[in-house]
Amino acid sequence: MPVSAPRRDRADAERPELLTMTPDNIPDLHLGWRNRCGPEEMHRVLCSYPGRSVWLPATREFGLVGPWRHRDEIAAVRELSASRNAAAVVEGLTERARDSGATVLLTMEIDETRRPAFYERAGLDLLETVITYELGTASTPPTKGPPLTFQRVSTSDKATVADVVALDHAAFPWLWWNSALEFQNYLTAPEVELWVGRVDGVVAAYIGVTIYHHWGHLDRIAVDPARQGNGLGVASLAFAVRLLAQRGARRVGLSTQGNNVRSQCLYERFGFQRVASNDYRLYGVWFR
Ligand SMILES: CC(C)(COP(=O)(O)OP(=O)(O)OC[C@H]1O[C@@H](n2cnc3c(N)ncnc32)[C@H](O)[C@@H]1OP(=O)(O)O)[C@@H](O)C(=O)NCCC(=O)NCCS
Repeated sequence: MPVSAPRRDRADAERPELLTMTPDNIPDLHLGWRNRCGPEEMHRVLCSYPGRSVWLPATREFGLVGPWRHRDEIAAVRELSASRNAAAVVEGLTERARDSGATVLLTMEIDETRRPAFYERAGLDLLETVITYELGTASTPPTKGPPLTFQRVSTSDKATVADVVALDHAAFPWLWWNSALEFQNYLTAPEVELWVGRVDGVVAAYIGVTIYHHWGHLDRIAVDPARQGNGLGVASLAFAVRLLAQRGARRVGLSTQGNNVRSQCLYERFGFQRVASNDYRLYGVWFR
């Protein structure tokens, strides 16, 4: 009796073969000016985070995934170069992220936006909305507040970096934690400055800023949760804005989570204004 082949439904039959992407596949992708990652960056990501990225040889569509902020437990889509089969590519990435033990897979809508229906079809939820603010440094208000002694942090000051990591993890929700490796890497950028604010010698707050010519960015600000609500946030913000102004910034930008009412009050009271055009969203799926 002839043995019949296993049945494939129509959707399966029409779906091109999805494979795990390795560095050997890079030449086959025909990367061009429209791709966000060049071959070298792609090679680095595929070697450091193997088994998480996928491609479709038939169409050369692909999804590239790397760790987020040097955190292996967060699988972040670095590039989704796919159109017709984009949802299938995301499903492949989700499967691999789950199988490799990641806590969450996420994709950030910074350089490209897709319709919410796409994410729904691909099984991703809206995780966060990130909103952005700007301030002209000419208008920095004077602040009186509790005395904070600020000190610049260098990579070699391991004890203070460890204090910053501990404060960061106590102050921010899990998704937004910066790993120790992320801080070490951040500190190597020449445009970056990381400062701690101490009360009686103890680290009570920290700020991280980046300066690009006449443009400054407040990358991080946090106050020890046990000391919040006492003016240390506004004192740290004033210090950061003054520092950026001294370094030549005429405007300062920053972003915060859409549900972080506390930081929004702080920024708005200080004079920052919303710049909705730079807002972006994070979509993803939690595995635990
Ligand atoms: C945001 C943060 C830095 C504020 O620090 P803080 O020491 O609590 O701030 P301050 O005491 O200086 O308060 C400054 C302003 O923030 C606002 N604020 C403070 N506590 C607040 C609360 N519980 N609810 C709403 N607004 C609040 C108020 O507008 C306050 O001004 P006011 O004292 O005149 O009312 C701190 O909450 C924090 O570290 N949060 C976690 C990290 C974070 O979210 N960083 C910013 C996002 S990137």
